Amino acid sequence: MADDRAPFVRVCALSELDEDTPKRVELDGTPVSLVRTVGEVFAIHDICSHANVSLSEGEVEDCQIECWLHGSSFDLRTGKPSGLPATRPVPVYPVKIEGDDVLVSLSQES
Ligand code: FES
Repeated sequence: MADDRAPFVRVCALSELDEDTPKRVELDGTPVSLVRTVGEVFAIHDICSHANVSLSEGEVEDCQIECWLHGSSFDLRTGKPSGLPATRPVPVYPVKIEGDDVLVSLSQES
């Protein structure tokens, strides 16, 4: 059976990610925010589902990233907003760590 999932691509070094400090990268033209927190690395689409602003400029707390403009927070594991005004989730992407390399696939987690 064909595997149509997107390949994992190296996006940065693990050592470039500071705890709880989002880093914006681009993967095939898609903006992605990488977040190192709670001992893991998460990848979430870098555009808020409420308006066209960058989530990587927001704050990270309790495995959530907060949109700086109107304050909705998105769960880094699921992309779901925890409160208004955003009502739609943001895509999250699978991450692999290989040595000091951070790899992301644009396949969406379901
Ligand atoms: S733009 Fe993100 S909550 Fe409004």
